[in-house]
Amino acid sequence: MTSSLATMAYIGATILFILSLGGLSNPETARRGNLFGMVGMAIAVLATVLGPRVTAAGIPYIVGALVVGGAIGLIAAKKVQMTQMPELVALMHSLVGLAACLVGFASYVDTSTVFATPAEKAIHEMEIYIGILIGAITFSGSLIAFGKLSGRIGGKPLLLPARHWLNLIGLLVVIWFGRAFLNAHDIQSGMTPLLVMTVIALLFGIHMVMAIGGADMPVVVSMLNSYSGWAAAATGFMLSNDLLIVVGALVGSSGAILSYIMCRAMNRNFISVIAGGFGGGAPTPKAAAGAAAVPQGEVTPVSATETAELLREAKNVIIVPGYGMAVAQAQHTVFEITKLLREKGVNVRFGIHPVAGRMPGHMNVLLAEAKVPYDIVLEMDEINEDFPDTDVTMVIGANDIVNPAAQDDPTSPIAGMPVLEVWKARTSIVMKRSMASGYAGVDNPLFYKDNNRMLFGDAKKMLDEVLAALRG
Ligand code: TAP
Repeated sequence: MTSSLATMAYIGATILFILSLGGLSNPETARRGNLFGMVGMAIAVLATVLGPRVTAAGIPYIVGALVVGGAIGLIAAKKVQMTQMPELVALMHSLVGLAACLVGFASYVDTSTVFATPAEKAIHEMEIYIGILIGAITFSGSLIAFGKLSGRIGGKPLLLPARHWLNLIGLLVVIWFGRAFLNAHDIQSGMTPLLVMTVIALLFGIHMVMAIGGADMPVVVSMLNSYSGWAAAATGFMLSNDLLIVVGALVGSSGAILSYIMCRAMNRNFISVIAGGFGGGAPTPKAAAGAAAVPQGEVTPVSATETAELLREAKNVIIVPGYGMAVAQAQHTVFEITKLLREKGVNVRFGIHPVAGRMPGHMNVLLAEAKVPYDIVLEMDEINEDFPDTDVTMVIGANDIVNPAAQDDPTSPIAGMPVLEVWKARTSIVMKRSMASGYAGVDNPLFYKDNNRMLFGDAKKMLDEVLAALRG
């Protein structure tokens, strides 16, 4: 492939990536967005492998690596449960970071590049230094995020004494060694500062994510997504590959915007989270996620038949799905119930919290899969004012996102997080298996409210019973 054809292919791929991001912003166009992304990536890979910078002798190695990597990716994607997606994403971010580090070291020891001026050489070395720095932070930080999300590492934040000073000292040492690296006369003398910086960056990545509490992990994952984009962009600079620079910048900036949106949704300070618990922003969960919280009152259980009765008599119903609906895979039964109630003239809508479930858009994906019409699926901000005019709210496997303590208890680890005000409806019904806490590990006063009912059991099983009762 000639150089101009490869450039054209890169431009085409770039356009497809931008269209892909645009498509992913709306559930109705998300499939198309994914398709654009896949076609763009296929073009990008082909143009790179067949492009002018790859020699014929290198192609078998690249094809071999593509087959092995592609097979691992395919198996992982087939095996992973929807609920394990964030850990898989974190693991993949770590690979981007690792790749940036390896490319950085390879570029440094590669003596084939001839620089016209010393300034050009200095710029190239700066790209290598910064690329490895971002790559190493992304690599170790993402591995810790993977460990935390998969439960291999505890969710409790590790708050070392004087941790901000440690970070600051690390930063100064990195700058100092950066100077030594740029002033080095040969590869051997430059390698020591490069290696020292890499170790510090790896330690910083570990420290940064270890200091973040379980409740803030969603933001960390999208932030690492952003870092992985910047690591890819840095790799693009090292390799003088325009496509990698553009795509890396797209991923980096969209990840940063998503992190900011999520911070707002959870009322977290963006800087606090990226600095690893700076200013005490990261809460300490009172109990482990899923642990039985100390009951703070009496709850009123309800049966599936009584739930069906309440739904049948209602004019306005809001369904609030959460992580438990994903675990139980109850979305199809939810759709059947919605269809039936709508046929009976009940106004049924869905209220979606921005961090419901375990990944951005988790609930939207499940509801779209079950063919719930998009126009009755509303964001938290669009529906929160409607709860006082609602007869029944049905909370399906959600907990933290409907916890009134976020508004009423300033000492709560989730204090200030915007929540869906389901308790303002005439009756709320919470569907879950036990009194266990949610992801943030805190008790939920909603369960003890006079107008709240608890429908205990697996969400799919209970909803099947509710559906049968509605039909009966
Ligand atoms: P959670 O607060 O985690 O609550 C889910 C509830 O579902 C649990 O209390 C659990 O109670 C119940 N449940 C589990 N399996 C069930 C089943 N088979 N049937 C019925 N209920 C079941 O979920 P949420 O309200 O969706 O809030 C999300 C939380 O995750 C937030 O704290 C958020 O910050 C965090 N988070 C979000 C993301 C993103 S990006 N969305 C990523 C990581 C973390 P039982 O065990 O009693 O059944």
